[in-house]
Amino acid sequence: MKIFADTSKVEEIREFASWGIIDGVTTNPKIIASDGNELEPTIKEICKIVPGPVSVEVTTNDFEGMVKEGTAYAAWAKNIVIKVPVIPAGLKATVALKAKGIKTNVTCAMSYNQAVLAAKAGATYVSLFYGRIGDLGYDPFIVIKDTAETFRLWGCKSEIISGSMRSLLDVNRSMQAGAHIVTVPPKFLRQMAENPQTEKTVNEFLEAWKGIKKK
Ligand code: E4P
Repeated sequence: MKIFADTSKVEEIREFASWGIIDGVTTNPKIIASDGNELEPTIKEICKIVPGPVSVEVTTNDFEGMVKEGTAYAAWAKNIVIKVPVIPAGLKATVALKAKGIKTNVTCAMSYNQAVLAAKAGATYVSLFYGRIGDLGYDPFIVIKDTAETFRLWGCKSEIISGSMRSLLDVNRSMQAGAHIVTVPPKFLRQMAENPQTEKTVNEFLEAWKGIKKK
């Protein structure tokens, strides 16, 4: 089970990396824009902090554009993974990028069928969007579980990333459904580490220790 940070916030990534709990990072154009970051320097900085895969998404939907952008981004660092959308041109770009030795994260998958096609195209990672699948009225737990079972059955090398987390329950259910990786926004990564009862207990122990030392 691997955990990625779903953010482009460099200081947050630095902190989670120091906890020793993140294996990689995912970004998308909306994340970069809402974090107020500039793409190239931010991604280069993240790649220095995290040795694992760092996903950066293309900003075009046409085949030539995706291959051109993906090839340029891949030269930024050794651990760059190119995110391409799971549309026909994106599948074609996945094949072309793979032929150049570039790793891909085929993204925005909302169904089992799209995930299977992404794997057939040679995606290194396939991103199924847990929250957005739920928005469509389908059960994302089942979609991930079925996809993971099929990938196992075929001996398929693509790894499933569960993204689009809306709650801590989505994170937990993604892991339980068999996603290889769950990509988690900072607020849920913090929530995973925190529990008011733990805080209360830790403080209780410390107070008891201080009491003994006073005697
Ligand atoms: C991760 O790879 C995805 O881009 C991200 O989790 C999408 O999240 P959203 O559905 O909240 O936009």
